[in-house]
Amino acid sequence: MFGPAGRLAVEQRLPGLREELDVDLCVVNGENIADGAGITGKLADKLLSSGADAVTLGNHAFRRDGIGPYLDASDRVIRPANAGSLLPGRGMTVVEARNGVSVAVINLLGQLFVDAAESPWEMVDGLVDEARLVTPVVVVDFHAEATSEKVAIARWLDGRVTAVIGTHTHVQTNDARILPGGTAAISDAGMTGPHDSVIGVEAELAIRRMRTRLPVRFRPAEGGVRIEGVVVDCSDGGRAERVELLRVEV
Ligand SMILES: [Fe+2]
Repeated sequence: MFGPAGRLAVEQRLPGLREELDVDLCVVNGENIADGAGITGKLADKLLSSGADAVTLGNHAFRRDGIGPYLDASDRVIRPANAGSLLPGRGMTVVEARNGVSVAVINLLGQLFVDAAESPWEMVDGLVDEARLVTPVVVVDFHAEATSEKVAIARWLDGRVTAVIGTHTHVQTNDARILPGGTAAISDAGMTGPHDSVIGVEAELAIRRMRTRLPVRFRPAEGGVRIEGVVVDCSDGGRAERVELLRVEV
């Protein structure tokens, strides 16, 4: 999700979409809902009351003051597990879906072109083992820049988790698939926010910064708002059975 436009789209449309698509559990990456960078406790609460069951974050998780204590106290808003061992909050949570099934949600950062304190490869097996002690339905939000790393981690986790959903690059990729072991995967779920933009930011500002190399203060764009994501069906045993792109013009 990106900026006020993305936030508004979710607040207005998520409850109806959940009903329409018959969704039992909804995970939202909310790292950029506060004016395009970071998240506040108040906004996270609003997201949860709009129909998100769990909120994942990313490399901008700590851009806003006060989010640390909020994350320490929250059991549904998580930050990447490998963002730093001294940081507040946790990298995994278990939430109950509408149909009563427990679902573990894990949030990890990639290490290619992203500032991760620890390699995701060092931690991911331990986290998945921990999650699978509680439930076979495990969703991983892999917040990473490089498609190679996203594809590799999905392959590594195939058969051990229900879905590996890539986030961070804001552009929905056309590779939603179910791997041979029964894990659903996509390199990037896309962006819920203003698509008349450069990945959420007013295009003119992003271009000016790139062309001139001068510091330019970014503003979230407003036009072309879409809700994007993926819908995954799975068995009670955690095996993915269907994965479909979600793209809704708002
Ligand atoms: Fe990010």
